[in-house]
Amino acid sequence: MSLINGEHPQTSVNPNISMAFPKDFVWGAATAAYQIEGATNEDGRGLTIWDQFAATPGKTFLGQTGEVATDHYHRVAEDVTLMKQLGLGAYRFSVAWSRILPQGTGTINQAGLDFYDHLVDELLAKNIMPMLTLYHWDLPLALHERGGWLNRDTALAFADYAEIVARRLGDRVNYWQTHNEPWCIAYLGYGIGIHAPGEKNVAHLGSVGHHLLVAHGLAVPRLRAFSQPGTQVGITLNFTPAYGADQHPETLKQVEKAQRSNRWFSDPIFRGAYPEGLFADLDCDEPAIAAEDFALINAPLDFLGVNYYTRTLFQWQPEGSTPVETAGQSNVIRSVPGSQYTAMGWEICPLVLTDLLLWLQQEYSVPALYITENGAAFDDKWDGESEYVVDSERLLYLREHIRAAGEAIKQGVPLRGYFAWSLLDNYEWMDGYSKRFGLIYVDYASQRRIIKNSGRWYASLIKAQR
Ligand code: NOJ
Repeated sequence: MSLINGEHPQTSVNPNISMAFPKDFVWGAATAAYQIEGATNEDGRGLTIWDQFAATPGKTFLGQTGEVATDHYHRVAEDVTLMKQLGLGAYRFSVAWSRILPQGTGTINQAGLDFYDHLVDELLAKNIMPMLTLYHWDLPLALHERGGWLNRDTALAFADYAEIVARRLGDRVNYWQTHNEPWCIAYLGYGIGIHAPGEKNVAHLGSVGHHLLVAHGLAVPRLRAFSQPGTQVGITLNFTPAYGADQHPETLKQVEKAQRSNRWFSDPIFRGAYPEGLFADLDCDEPAIAAEDFALINAPLDFLGVNYYTRTLFQWQPEGSTPVETAGQSNVIRSVPGSQYTAMGWEICPLVLTDLLLWLQQEYSVPALYITENGAAFDDKWDGESEYVVDSERLLYLREHIRAAGEAIKQGVPLRGYFAWSLLDNYEWMDGYSKRFGLIYVDYASQRRIIKNSGRWYASLIKAQR
């Protein structure tokens, strides 16, 4: 049996999607530098906030770090070959700022640029379109020591970094994203401190978010100036649509608040203003906004990258009951009768994706949307020798979400592509290696890669849709 041949016989899931996507629809998979590369001390790479955070006792699962991760840094050829086996049309990856500028600013480390240059060439040689993210959470430590995202100068440094990467790769990379999930960078990293740099001060959320937006705004024209005409520039935002399980005024209030939080970055970018009441909701200080900021932040983009995994469902809790807390939000239901959950404890809600895409289109009329991440962690088991990993739940998750995406296209949403998270099992931040999201299983002891059934299925879908 060939490696890519639909499903393994043991799987009982019906793989059919019975839906035709546009012929030029982009089918891809995504990763991020710190989650896969390893080689954190090689070829002049500077330290980042994640190196420091992960090395701090108690911050990550079993103290695990990205020091080795999936060793992708030394396995580019093998990994690109696997992408080809899956039939991917595109690969979304991020560049580690500290490989290019070990101190965040100043001296350029050519070896860092060479690494990504080589990766891009390998991709293009196999007809896989590179989609590059400049910032997927790994801030150079040197910049953190000067205030990190609390310091407006970090935005200026980011724009310089963007230009350096564009000057080197802009002749070959036609899809660029500034940030990945600024909501998580700000809220998880600076608000509740469960991600690097681990600061817990909600008062700062407004400035952190604003500097991320200024960084984005300053970088966009620099990217356009140093890439090919027609290059597509965008940003990836995460959305967790909020719903209420009842009509209690308290529930409705929480839903509204969560929806404002979903607009934290998309409103400034696509409308040129923060949602009214946002800073009060976040309980933070008002950020200092310079006169020209919104003109920069609101400059037209070519696309929006959407990361979608789950929804939030609020329910009124009578006084006296203990409120349930999820990531700082109280009264969130964590176990909906009849719903299924991933290993992250995230409710599986494919239909919400259709709604989300329709809502984004209605609110912002972006010229193009890409699902830049969607996927699920499950406790995959590999028997230690065979070429198979049976992961029917992930296969179903992907199938249903892709179907939901297709439904949005039918209803007129200009959705141009879908990237599964993730190409490979990898370092899931504070959860270390305990959560597996890959289409490809990684045996961390040997670094052996095994295409999971979901990966085989995805390959057969891509083939059928061509
Ligand atoms: C979003 C992040 O961009 C990615 O780094 C992470 O691994 C996935 N969500 C899953 O949590």
